[in-house]
Amino acid sequence: MTQEEAIARIKYLTAELNKYNYLYYVKNAPQISDFEFDQLLKELEQLEKQYNYREPDSPTQRVGGYITKEFPNQPHRFPMLSLDNSYDWNEVVTFFQRNIPNLEEIEFVAELKYDGLAISCIYENGILTTALTRGDGKVGEVVTNNVKTIKNVPLRLFGDHPNWVEIRGEIIMPFESFNKLNAEKDENGEEPFANPRNAAAGSLKLQDSSLVAKRNLQFMPYDVLSETPIFTNHYEAMMKAKEWGVPVPPYIKLCHGLNEVKHFIEEYETKREKLPFGIDGVVIKVNSYKLQQQLGSTAKYPRWAVAYKYKPEQALTQIISVDYQVGRTGVITPVANLSPVLLSGTTVKRVTLHNFDFVKQNDIHVKDYVWVEKSGEIIPNVVKVEIDKRPSDAYPISPPRSCPVCNSPTRYIEGEPFVYCTNEKTCPPQLLGKLQHFVSKDAMNIETLGEGKIELLFKKGLVKSPADLYDLTYDQLYGLENEYETPDGKIRKVKFQQKTVENILKSIEKSKAKPFDRVLYALGIKNIGSVMAKNIAYYAKSLDKLMQMSKEELCKIPDIGDITAQSIIDWFSDPDNLDLIQRLKKAGLQFTIEEDKPKSEKLKGLNFVISGVFVEIERDELKKLIETNGGKVLSSISSNTDYLIAGENMGPAKRQKANELGIPIISYQEFLEKFKIEQI
Ligand code: IVH
Repeated sequence: MTQEEAIARIKYLTAELNKYNYLYYVKNAPQISDFEFDQLLKELEQLEKQYNYREPDSPTQRVGGYITKEFPNQPHRFPMLSLDNSYDWNEVVTFFQRNIPNLEEIEFVAELKYDGLAISCIYENGILTTALTRGDGKVGEVVTNNVKTIKNVPLRLFGDHPNWVEIRGEIIMPFESFNKLNAEKDENGEEPFANPRNAAAGSLKLQDSSLVAKRNLQFMPYDVLSETPIFTNHYEAMMKAKEWGVPVPPYIKLCHGLNEVKHFIEEYETKREKLPFGIDGVVIKVNSYKLQQQLGSTAKYPRWAVAYKYKPEQALTQIISVDYQVGRTGVITPVANLSPVLLSGTTVKRVTLHNFDFVKQNDIHVKDYVWVEKSGEIIPNVVKVEIDKRPSDAYPISPPRSCPVCNSPTRYIEGEPFVYCTNEKTCPPQLLGKLQHFVSKDAMNIETLGEGKIELLFKKGLVKSPADLYDLTYDQLYGLENEYETPDGKIRKVKFQQKTVENILKSIEKSKAKPFDRVLYALGIKNIGSVMAKNIAYYAKSLDKLMQMSKEELCKIPDIGDITAQSIIDWFSDPDNLDLIQRLKKAGLQFTIEEDKPKSEKLKGLNFVISGVFVEIERDELKKLIETNGGKVLSSISSNTDYLIAGENMGPAKRQKANELGIPIISYQEFLEKFKIEQI
């Protein structure tokens, strides 16, 4: 095949595949099988690679492969407003009545209010060029490469679309994908997402777009914006957009007067339970653009649209028993085991009862029938107890006198909400909680040790104190067997393989470079959150100085009061804690704030570009390393670039550009060796 023939074939395949995609996702009328589609896609992928040519709307971009470490900001051409909302139909009527005289004659458009995150897709000459998150409504983040992996997002528009058009909508994750993703996370010992909205938001901000491609996100368009008005109303614009290949959802209705809107709301009040994705209401929009313009907006909300919110779904179920969970600070939380009940797409089996005040105030007994609610927010909650249905064998939930795990006496002060296990030193869940806190994101961020893995190391007796992490060896970890319960109740066994072990050891090693304030936070001193730790680290400069400070001196640090100062003093007066610090110091953790080190001039006059993901070092740290040695870090490749330092999964475009300009591409290790740079 000649270059010319190859390009012609690439163009043909691109157009064909985009057409099939449109027929599948917009028309709901697939013309070829998944297998045939995949064959054509593979052929295209291969040709693009071989002939180094790709159309801007190539469907191969849906597979992902781009790594974005930081999502740059970009202003919105038109502000992305929020919506005023109400749970009360009469308020909705009043909302419009306030500004529109003859409501009966007005056309409205009713749409579902999809529960995800807003996205703006900009098409220039029909090609999707930019996708922006809402951000603060004025400036969003550019997430184009990730959005291109979403299967129903058109990469090119068809027909007589305007030269510049912005399609806004919601990115959602259907329940099925959400449940699957959480099951996987659970299996890997990772923290599951609280709800599909968080899962969609988290997925869209993944750095590796090929992972986004696997998350099965969906685009639900709800708005069309152009430079100059080309339509007279919203409904017309949405229908036209459908002709361009925009996957306008079928949950949209043109309504004459508010009565028809009310019917739509009532229709979906019941239908919503069967929808494969989450919604939290209905959006009602004035159809006419002219009237929309006349009504205008406040700083936050348009006056021509409002959201009617459905009351959160509730379900009635019975409390079968109550467990007591012990947290890292020793607080004992009552958790109710429920008769399993389906709620907003997931089965709820357990619900926290928060604390003993909550139990008392709501008079909750074991065996009670309770209403649980999931308000789209994180965890389900008990909202009401059916006292009339209380069975005769129901009994009250009282604060335990001894710890349910270690049997030590508890501390409970009448009138206070919390009960504590007093055995801070050896109560297993407290120790485990402290370890989990130590490795957590805002602390040492040892991300390869999710909750499941750290629990395993703890249970096997390999790690009892944070300092033990730094003594772990390859042989201790290799072949360890972890058990998981899948959501369908099966037990799965997974062995630690070479790669897992290497990654764990690498991330433990990497944590040694975490700055002093993170270490201080990780120690888990009572009342010291991550912001407070930063503050203290900044003022004390080192742990040694902090240890010598008197209560009065500590109180001089902004935001530190008597209680926090006392908990610092108490913590350092415990010999076990001093021992922990000695061991962590020996392991090489940071216990001082780095004063500006004398800079080396090894990289003077050299410009670097960093690309891809680095396992050995975080990108910010690499940047710092270059700068403290006199080099400069540039954000994009140009003829001024001297070296491109490449991590894993570097984008092909960067590599190509570096090759074209003859810029040497080196790895992190090569960089260290070539310039004799010492690691931080
Ligand atoms: S229209 C100015 N329509 O709800 C009007 N928004 O609470 C802009 N949303 O930020 C929004 N479904 O992310 C509109 N059918 C729909 C929607 C919808 C979900 C989201 C959107 C918006 C938020 C406002």
